[in-house]
Amino acid sequence: MATLTLYERVGGESFFVALVDRFYDGVVADPLLRPMYPDDLTDARDHLSLFLIQYWGGPRTYSDTRGHPRLRIRHAPFVVDDAARDAWLGHMHDALDGAQLDADVREELDGYFEMAANQLRNT
Ligand code: HEM
Repeated sequence: MATLTLYERVGGESFFVALVDRFYDGVVADPLLRPMYPDDLTDARDHLSLFLIQYWGGPRTYSDTRGHPRLRIRHAPFVVDDAARDAWLGHMHDALDGAQLDADVREELDGYFEMAANQLRNT
């Protein structure tokens, strides 16, 4: 039997859409992060959920619509220091806590977000 992608193991698209919804509920209330984002978070929600769907083995809609992710370049306009990274990761952990995940899936997601957030620090 072929190995399932993480995208398949979490139940597909709806998991990532709900995760990103919970994540941005935290961002909205965050005094450090909120000002970095546009007033209307519709596109930000779409971009992050489509990116994660693609990254974890789902449809490639993100790249079809946004091109290569180039995440370091796309984050260059924002001050991503330790405090911003910690705030971002804190909201993502809260969002993950809101899901029922197998321990190995949770570990994989935690490790990935930690690595990615560290890589995106630019200050
Ligand atoms: C480390 C702290 C981080 C901060 C402060 C941050 C902040 C931001 C901001 C302000 C935007 C622009 C939103 C908009 O204009 O709509 C953005 C876009 C985005 N971020 Fe982050 N981010 C962080 C970490 C991450 C991580 C770890 C990931 C991936 C796992 C990520 C993935 C994305 C994606 C996919 C976009 C949309 C790119 C596009 O325009 O297509 N970010 N981020």
